Amino acid sequence: MKLTRLGIVVGVAGAIVLGFLGPSTAVELHGTSADTRQRLVLAPAQRDMMLAEMRLMLESVSGIVQGLAADDLPVAEKAARMSGMMHAADTDPQLQKLLPQLFLELAMHTHRGFDTLADQMKAGSSQADILRGLAKLTGNCVACHVMYRLDEVR
Ligand code: HEC
Repeated sequence: MKLTRLGIVVGVAGAIVLGFLGPSTAVELHGTSADTRQRLVLAPAQRDMMLAEMRLMLESVSGIVQGLAADDLPVAEKAARMSGMMHAADTDPQLQKLLPQLFLELAMHTHRGFDTLADQMKAGSSQADILRGLAKLTGNCVACHVMYRLDEVR
């Protein structure tokens, strides 16, 4: 609950900042839909790539939680590393030109968060510390999802 609220605060702050910075290439206004999140319009292949990366991040979160529940840190570490910076699709220069700065920052912060978690697990941090890291990380997921959606170029 607290994290959701944090996500919304970050989201609103981000929308205000974006208002000052002006829209990026991929940003399109919402039409008649009640969904007022900012639409990022990408080529179908770019959108597919981003969504595949998202599903991988959810898989990582699931693997981390399962690893922690089974007291198996190596499993959790492997799951976290899967979504680290090494696997960030948004480091693609083409995508970087299209996406808003705030989106990119949140995305990079999230990938780095997975790496930090994996490092913590490798170093044998306590479960409480790892959970705190995971809580921060999933706050990023919520914050970004509050603000953006992905559409395809028509
Ligand atoms: C920088 C922004 C951002 C971050 C951070 C982010 N997402 Fe997403 N995610 C999106 C957007 C945008 C969509 C598309 C939503 C839409 O079009 O309705 C999406 C979609 C998804 C989907 C749906 C995939 C599909 O195939 O339709 C999943 C699952 C997902 N995200 C998981 C996560 C998880 C888990 C995290 C955190 C570990 C996360 N995301 C972090 C922006 C983000």
